[in-house]
Amino acid sequence: MPQGSTNILDEWQCLEEEYLKLQETHRTYLQKLEEISKLQKTCSSSISHQRRRLKEISHLVNKCSTETSDDIDGMKNRMKTRPNAFFEMEAFLPKKNGLYLSLVLGNVNVTLLSKQSKFAYKDEYETFKLCSTVILLLFSCICYFFVSYRFLDAILNFLLVWYYCTLTIRESILITNGSRIKGWWVFHHYISAFLSGVMLTWPDGNLYKIFRNQFLAYSLYQSFVQCLQCYYQSGCLYRLRALGERHNMDLTVEGFQSWMWKGLTFLLPFLFFGHFWQLFNGLSLFRMAQLPDCKEWQVLMCGLCFLILFMGNFFTTVAVVRQKLRSRNQKPKSL
Ligand code: COA
Repeated sequence: MPQGSTNILDEWQCLEEEYLKLQETHRTYLQKLEEISKLQKTCSSSISHQRRRLKEISHLVNKCSTETSDDIDGMKNRMKTRPNAFFEMEAFLPKKNGLYLSLVLGNVNVTLLSKQSKFAYKDEYETFKLCSTVILLLFSCICYFFVSYRFLDAILNFLLVWYYCTLTIRESILITNGSRIKGWWVFHHYISAFLSGVMLTWPDGNLYKIFRNQFLAYSLYQSFVQCLQCYYQSGCLYRLRALGERHNMDLTVEGFQSWMWKGLTFLLPFLFFGHFWQLFNGLSLFRMAQLPDCKEWQVLMCGLCFLILFMGNFFTTVAVVRQKLRSRNQKPKSL
């Protein structure tokens, strides 16, 4: 046999052996996957069972609340910690998608099964937010300072609709993975998507021209604040990970760090200014809606959206700050 063919056959032999090893490894992998899916089912049904029994037992405890002992008190305390423990366990178990994700993605599993992948997803979400916000900032800048053309405004509004819709999907996935994003922020993005959609349909008339600059300046400011907010939130994420304190997707579970508090006190004036700008937009639009030549339904609708955004943002932010202040005062040593 010629030398060349022998070499090729040797190499092929080598490759065959590697292939056999690969087959074996893959078989083990499939076996483990099957074991994992069995374990997942067992854990999920065990959690449901535990929850049911816990409910029954707490019902019984409530009935005989007159009899107290150290054992009963200890049991009550341990019972209180269980719901949180189940929530954390469930963050690593596959679950059925909620209505929104089922409609958008179908019934595909979106649970990430390790802390690293959860963190990487959240990190990627913050980067996505930052990049999109910078693009929106540049676009609003162009529309505000350089070109006054309805077509470009339409593209900006379309980008805003797309951005907010994408955020709602990503945030639903984050929530499935144990993130504690407050319902309002998700709702905020639905309303913002709707608002940008309505702005998109507003015909290019006198009233649009009057409101245009105010809206573009507001968009510019909001993008700027969102950049600051992204910086603060990814800062929290990195610091807590570096400290090894991060628990699932929660930034603040082990007391609020003083760095975060400094970041927040820096951010808050900008946030509140943005909220009052939303109120101002709402009131301007309501005043505009009362003009005799106002025929467009978009005026009132956008005014209403701005007002809802103002109320939701303002009260949720106040509630978040109060909650953080309280947890800071409760754990002074951890700061
Ligand atoms: N959008 C998306 N996610 C948000 C969010 C927001 N506005 N605010 C908080 N979250 C997320 C956090 O990332 C965290 O997620 P995790 O559990 O996956 O880690 C979770 O919700 C809990 O965060 P929380 O501790 O309540 O707040 P925070 O310290 O991360 O941020 C604020 C606090 C006040 C800075 C933040 O809520 C905020 O920026 N709010 C104002 C937004 C606003 O008003 N925008 C309009 C500006 S004009």
